[in-house]
Amino acid sequence: MNKTFHVSRRMFLQRCSLAAAASGLPLWFVERDLSAAEAPKPSASPNARPTIGLIGCGGMGTGDASNASRFGEVVAVCDVDRNHAEGAAKKFTKNGKKPAVYGDFRKLLERGEINAIVQGTPDHWHTLVNIAAAKAKKDIYGEKPLTLTLDEGRHVIKAVRENKVVFQCGTQQRSSKRFHLTCELVRNGRIGQLKEVHVFVPGGILGNNFKSVPVPQELNYDFWLGQAPKEEYFTERCHRTFRWWWDYAGGPVTDWGAHHNDIARWAIGLEGPTAIEARVVTPPLPNGYTTPSEFEATLTWANGVKQIVKTTLDDSPFGQHLKENGQRNGLKFIGTNGWIWVNREEITASDKQLLIDPLPESAIKLEYSKDHMTNFITSMSSRKDPIASVETAHRSASIGHLIIIALRTGRKLQWDPAAETFTGEGAAEANKHIAREMRKPYDYSFAG
Ligand SMILES: NC(=O)c1ccc[n+]([C@@H]2O[C@H](COP(=O)([O-])OP(=O)(O)OC[C@H]3O[C@@H](n4cnc5c(N)ncnc54)[C@H](O)[C@@H]3O)[C@@H](O)[C@H]2O)c1
Repeated sequence: MNKTFHVSRRMFLQRCSLAAAASGLPLWFVERDLSAAEAPKPSASPNARPTIGLIGCGGMGTGDASNASRFGEVVAVCDVDRNHAEGAAKKFTKNGKKPAVYGDFRKLLERGEINAIVQGTPDHWHTLVNIAAAKAKKDIYGEKPLTLTLDEGRHVIKAVRENKVVFQCGTQQRSSKRFHLTCELVRNGRIGQLKEVHVFVPGGILGNNFKSVPVPQELNYDFWLGQAPKEEYFTERCHRTFRWWWDYAGGPVTDWGAHHNDIARWAIGLEGPTAIEARVVTPPLPNGYTTPSEFEATLTWANGVKQIVKTTLDDSPFGQHLKENGQRNGLKFIGTNGWIWVNREEITASDKQLLIDPLPESAIKLEYSKDHMTNFITSMSSRKDPIASVETAHRSASIGHLIIIALRTGRKLQWDPAAETFTGEGAAEANKHIAREMRKPYDYSFAG
């Protein structure tokens, strides 16, 4: 071996040691991570850069589009709130060129030069936007959770597959090294036989007796409500706080839950649980937000694993409303040989050695993504599925939807993940919750 090889190898190992020390990840895993294929570099050539449309210009949509703009140009933006759309258009104006502004996403999708859309609408709009975009042959980076209901997932999968578009769900923890390492260790039996997964998600918010106010001029409120029932307007129903209403989202169950349940499922390695029970811990106040701020659920998987999902004060922006319960936001995997705790900031284990010892070459290796948006952009070129494909996103979102149905029916439920139907006692009632009535004209026909 030549001298250059030795020097560059030494530098590589130094880089790994520094990265391992900074991240708290084991050296063997960092080495593997850094040896993995380099991410595509943002291209300066206009021809190689995808053309992007942003639909839903709130906090997350704008953040995602910023992230995507490392690789391509945002040429059009759409929001039912004109102020949000104009704000995004200003943000993405480049060299004096302002993106086109739309109030109806179907018009944006008519633009032939758009290769991909980034969508950050509230949960109750995800499905129709994704279906319309797939039909318009646009690749999609769509926010989590995939859908508002179980049934919507089947429709989105069909549209994505029939139209052969690339779909990445915004469950970015799949591209995080800590979660990847945890799931790989669990799948390879590092903590023995997996027995329990404890999922702690930040709790929701309590609030009621909201003041009805005139709809702001810049907001197309009927379009914002979309498939959900017509309701009087107050600000707490709309931007950002939509997540605490059953009509538009799933409260804490699908807010952080969409991320952590996805990781739980990745480690468990099965399609879905077979039994679900859930209880409201802190009910919503009368005449206020409709999702409970605190809940607890137990899911049983076919391999005997129990998954306990609970709300916690940690990371909840509205924590002052909640009782302290001492648990942190994250996941704990408990096996016959020990446990691993993981969240976005750290990974720890009952015994350090569980993390330090490298997995053998023959170990099960989970799909790898260095960075969630990069993974999407790379998939646009390769036409291979990204790490959070539409089927993966559907199965992971289903966990939240199942918990919601158990909470709303107050029943212990049996679920057949293969047939995607409830069985046994209470099935007739629970199956009615698989789909929701969509207010016209915002049903599937709206997506073309
Ligand atoms: N991946 C993550 O970590 C993460 C973090 C936060 C939010 N999210 C997800 O992002 C989504 C948006 O959340 P947010 O906090 O940014 O909400 P937000 O209320 O700030 O933004 C939503 C935007 O969508 C617009 N909108 C509503 N209906 C529309 C339609 N039919 N067409 C076009 N625009 C429409 C709203 O006017 C608003 O500007 C949610 O689904 C949420 O779960 C993901």
